[in-house]
Amino acid sequence: MRVAVVGATGAVGSTILGVMRERSFPADEIVPFASERSAGRTIDYGDRDLTVQALTDESIRGFDLALFSAGSGTSEIWGPKFADAGAVVVDNSSYWRMFDHVPLVVAEVNPEALDAHQGIVANPNCTTMQMVVALKPILDRAGIERLVVSTYQAVSGTGQRAVEELHAQAAAVVEAQELPPASIYPHQIAFNVLPQVERFKDGDDYTTEERKVMAETRKILGQDDIRISATCARVPVYTGHSESVNVETRDDLSPEECRELLASAPGVVVVDDPADGLYPLAIDVEGRDDVLVGRIRRDPSHDRCLNLWIVGDNLRKGAATNAVQLAEILHERGLVRVPQTV
Ligand SMILES: NC(=O)c1ccc[n+]([C@@H]2O[C@H](COP(=O)([O-])OP(=O)(O)OC[C@H]3O[C@@H](n4cnc5c(N)ncnc54)[C@H](OP(=O)(O)O)[C@@H]3O)[C@@H](O)[C@H]2O)c1
Repeated sequence: MRVAVVGATGAVGSTILGVMRERSFPADEIVPFASERSAGRTIDYGDRDLTVQALTDESIRGFDLALFSAGSGTSEIWGPKFADAGAVVVDNSSYWRMFDHVPLVVAEVNPEALDAHQGIVANPNCTTMQMVVALKPILDRAGIERLVVSTYQAVSGTGQRAVEELHAQAAAVVEAQELPPASIYPHQIAFNVLPQVERFKDGDDYTTEERKVMAETRKILGQDDIRISATCARVPVYTGHSESVNVETRDDLSPEECRELLASAPGVVVVDDPADGLYPLAIDVEGRDDVLVGRIRRDPSHDRCLNLWIVGDNLRKGAATNAVQLAEILHERGLVRVPQTV
């Protein structure tokens, strides 16, 4: 199997390569792609060095799979070109996610959606991804009527340059030096909390990130009627998104039952002993593929509402790990070939 990793020099792409190595992904050949700036660079892949290539009509030929994390513009143009050349594309950008013909898939939640792919498969937004892994068992057991979601998102979710911006600002504050101007975020991110993740489209008082969380959750869970309200904030954390999720179930579900349910759910680890100071922390999830859930408790204002605290590594389960899991499932099920349309 020949696999292309597009955006291989970025925060998500380099994590994809790391996860492929860790999981001994069954590729005969892996070709990293990035912008022309990086063409010719070598990437250490353990037993071999990989040379970064630029995207051209010739260089994209002959692949079975292409894992994309190079931004929406690149996915819009080059995703269909890879698919037309015979590869199945697993795309991390937001560009294809809400198209009806594109499955939006989380490995533990709706892998059956892969069966109907037409060449492009979308990997959900990191914030949505970790939340639905924890919500799926609750949906199956008790139904979900409404979600109120508040997020505390790490800067690596914006990419490598945002990590550098936080680092430079934090160092300047600690050294009592003049702060370098904010360029990635609209305000200083070091020692601050920004109630804006991504941008406000004209006339919308929700951000594009908040809209994605609401729409993608419904699509992945296959529940158009779940009522959802999301507020997304950026916090000065390098890696690991934290989320407070208030879940209104259709049927009764006690905190104890919920804890038991989640303890046996795939991809979830319950960390919930607050009296002992045990609850999910962003610094504990970095480098892990599991979604951590804790602070599971009754909402005192509503009989059928529970509160959860959900934490995931945005670069791993929130992006790279799920993309590699989807690639594995596609390969195992013999779905790594673009079905020809008549
Ligand atoms: N970070 C997260 O937690 C996260 C989670 C889920 C999804 N995503 C999505 O994944 C994508 C990448 O995010 P990231 O955080 O990894 O960003 P990043 O660190 O800025 O990396 C971007 C990558 O795309 C490449 N690239 C940029 N322009 C290109 C072009 N015209 N042609 C080919 N390659 C190009 C870059 O190559 P150079 O190094 O040569 O510039 C780099 O490899 C985005 O769509 C993002 O929304 C990110």
